[in-house]
Amino acid sequence: METILEIRNVTKKFGQIAVFKDVSFQLHKGEVLAMVGENGAGKSTMMNILGGVYPQGEYEGELFLEGKNVAFQSERDSINAGIQMIHQEISLHQDLSVAENVFLGNLTNTHGIVNWKTIYSEAAKYLDMVHLQADPHMLVRNLNTSQQQLLSIARALASHPKIILFDEPTSALTESDAGNLIQVIKKLSSQGISCLYISHRLEEVLEVSDRIMVLRDGSLIATYPSASADINRIIEDMVGRSLEEMYPKKQLPLGDVVLRVEHLTVPDPYIQDKIIVEDLSFEVRAGEILGISGLVGSGRSETVNAVYGAMPRSSGDIYVNGVRVDIQNPRQAIRCGIGLVTENRKASGIIASMNLRQNMTIASLKAISSRGIINKAREKELSEQYYDSLKVKAQGIETGITALSGGNQQKIVLSKWMMKEKDLKVLILDEPTRGVDVGAKVEIYNIMTELARHGIAIIVVSSEMNELIGMCDRMLVIGGQKIRGNIPREAFSQERIMRAAACIEEYGV
Ligand SMILES: Nc1ncnc2c1ncn2[C@@H]1O[C@H](COP(=O)(O)OP(=O)(O)OP(=O)(O)O)[C@@H](O)[C@H]1O
Ligand SMILES: [Mg+2]
Repeated sequence: METILEIRNVTKKFGQIAVFKDVSFQLHKGEVLAMVGENGAGKSTMMNILGGVYPQGEYEGELFLEGKNVAFQSERDSINAGIQMIHQEISLHQDLSVAENVFLGNLTNTHGIVNWKTIYSEAAKYLDMVHLQADPHMLVRNLNTSQQQLLSIARALASHPKIILFDEPTSALTESDAGNLIQVIKKLSSQGISCLYISHRLEEVLEVSDRIMVLRDGSLIATYPSASADINRIIEDMVGRSLEEMYPKKQLPLGDVVLRVEHLTVPDPYIQDKIIVEDLSFEVRAGEILGISGLVGSGRSETVNAVYGAMPRSSGDIYVNGVRVDIQNPRQAIRCGIGLVTENRKASGIIASMNLRQNMTIASLKAISSRGIINKAREKELSEQYYDSLKVKAQGIETGITALSGGNQQKIVLSKWMMKEKDLKVLILDEPTRGVDVGAKVEIYNIMTELARHGIAIIVVSSEMNELIGMCDRMLVIGGQKIRGNIPREAFSQERIMRAAACIEEYGV
């Protein structure tokens, strides 16, 4: 096996704390090497070193590219050396065309003149390589998340990279779109491009990669050939113990209906006369965990956002404990006891300038203050309780939230709502375990169960079918703007849910 990139004895510290120590590994030419590990294990940090985000001098150790010692001073250096990075958060220019994005910063020109005709035809070539069917003239804004992720790869390919680094590229995609992306990556590797691949979706990792490397507590624990790797062994290596049960579902007695939604219609906020979902009616009981499933773009997130008042609805009545309530904005929803943990933590989940304690307690000021004065001891106690139970990896609750790894930020966003237990009647979770490692997922499921036990009605939107099947009491399936399935736990099957989502066969409606 020819080695294209070698990492030799790399140590990276933030302040006095080492993220990893003395890590060495090799990336072979044309292989997909997966990197897995718990939230905070140092995966993104490693990628940032290879991508030149942390220049030489900010880490110890050496990098060799095709046998030559390289020292990147900037991201530009790494790109020029033939390394491209695909980030989890997509960074495309929304108001430029697809073709312009492919060649951004790289516009082919002769004597300073951009040849648009060539650009559009060349762009089509790269779109083809990633199986993206999109008009090169189209604005990026009009592409969905999966298409935008594919476009990011097309853009990377336009600079003819030798190596592509993928940091959780599928975490915002549904399983079927992720499957498509996986095929694209396999094809690229068969064409000789070497890939380093980070993901928390372990089945996907097994499928896409040639070898799997496990990081834990700053060290490389093991490397396995994917063809013969055992998923349970990998999980054990990651978390340092065996996980008894991935989905610790408890069947609890259900109480009265807490939330009832009648005839909800959500118009498309951007396109006139277009409807996202139409005439949906459903209810959730105290202690019940209701899943919402559907294909990407089926309107799952829009539905829950409309209930929460974060998106306008053109019709629809909402009842909490049998009383009709007026919800036009999230403030009113919160006042009615409805909370929503957002899918997009960057845009609406975290407050970057605040520390963990503040981020956690910001929505629970009532619970931690008396007569308008914050009880510092109570605030500390409550935040530490959640910090421990979710096993947040950081230097304590006074740490700034931006110093946390992606998955650990997600845990903080979640605990912010979980703390409001006393004022909550309904908790809506939109992709609660996105980017969260397997161990922490189980902790989140346990907390969901606890909240349900306290009589809170829970709604979960998720692209991970196994998670919904594992944890929900009932599942609504949205397809073609309507509810196509209202399936009780006893009748759950992957096929039934898929058929309902694809509007092939309805169930229970
Ligand atoms: N700028 C920073 N300052 C201080 N500590 C940091 C900084 N960036 C990252 N860290 C710490 O380094 C560790 C590794 O973070 P990293 O983002 O590499 O984890 P990760 O493996 O990618 O996790 P995840 O799966 O959650 O994305 C974490 O404990 C994080 O808190
Ligand atoms: Mg990361």
